[in-house]
Amino acid sequence: MIPMVDLKGQYLALKDEIDSAIAEVLDSTRFILGPNVQAFEREAAEYLGVAHAVSCASGTDALHLALLAAGIGPGDEVITTPFTFIATAEAISYVGAEPIFVDIEPDTFNIDPNLIEPAITPRTRAIIPVHLFGQPADMDAITQIAKRHDLLVIEDVAQAFGAAIEGTMTGAIGLAGCHSFFPSKNLGCYGDGGLVTTSSDEVADKLRMLRNHGSNVRYHHDVIGYNSRLDELQAAILRVKLRHIDEFNTNRRRAAHTYSRLLSGIVIPPHEDGKGNHVYHQYTILSDARDAIMETLTGEQISCAIYYPIPLHRQKVYQQRYEDAPLPVSEDVARHCLSLPVYPELEDSTIENVVASIKAAV
Ligand SMILES: Cc1ncc(COP(=O)(O)O)c(C=O)c1O
Repeated sequence: MIPMVDLKGQYLALKDEIDSAIAEVLDSTRFILGPNVQAFEREAAEYLGVAHAVSCASGTDALHLALLAAGIGPGDEVITTPFTFIATAEAISYVGAEPIFVDIEPDTFNIDPNLIEPAITPRTRAIIPVHLFGQPADMDAITQIAKRHDLLVIEDVAQAFGAAIEGTMTGAIGLAGCHSFFPSKNLGCYGDGGLVTTSSDEVADKLRMLRNHGSNVRYHHDVIGYNSRLDELQAAILRVKLRHIDEFNTNRRRAAHTYSRLLSGIVIPPHEDGKGNHVYHQYTILSDARDAIMETLTGEQISCAIYYPIPLHRQKVYQQRYEDAPLPVSEDVARHCLSLPVYPELEDSTIENVVASIKAAV
């Protein structure tokens, strides 16, 4: 069986470091908002080049809390991509705002900046670009549009920890960057976890309150907040893995480039637009023979997955507004995309096996 991601292999490679980090937490019996959370936030902020990194319970919460801290609420519209995981839009809905879906670029699968301006209305308050599959969205163009129209930018970095655009890390460009540490992410913990990065002192203060019952001082509650904290065990694990993230991402890129060399002319390999460095959270191809490839790979015990089969504007929960308004690129990509196994430990011989199966299927 070839998995989509080899969490066991990664754990075994780091076993000594991770086991001793976990043992230290158990020994300390400090489980919530203790020294590891503090240290991880400091180390992540330093790595990402931001003033503040405020951890929370998940990537979904990171988006939700960032929107609340940015003051977005009922009556507001937030522009985002329909070709993403549901959490990006859900968070907009949680705060009572409305997600406005704008179609994607056919090659990078990221939001198409050329289509953003026509979607802006007097109610638009923010844009949430998603750095999908690990490739940074076109932040130069998005930032310029946001400036022209006085909009906030909140980055969804759930799939792109460690990606950068000309030396600036994703998550350090907009007002806030929202990260997920779901186990299969490029930087993943052993449960749920999330982080909001920001260089605004005001946003950081609000985030710290919101994630902890609206409180900065124990038993003093200034706003209605949430129980959304990263726990010490996860923070301890993330501190170990953060030390290896560049090596993980370099190895993901190596694996992706090997695939792309071998798959060229057989399917459409992922396109790197060269504006930022792609950290390949997913390696996603396009092919007219997508379903046949999937069937063959599955039959040969090679994992593969469709991210995403139904764009968000076609989901039952959001489709009403878009019934007569197709977003053709997202719909076309959803019909042809297939993600293949990619992870830092993936060996060339395994990639060759996957490619041989794809060749046999097309
Ligand atoms: C693009 C995107 N946004 C948000 C999330 C939500 O993160 P989490 O699962 O940590 O809540 C995910 C991942 O699951 C994601 O892929």
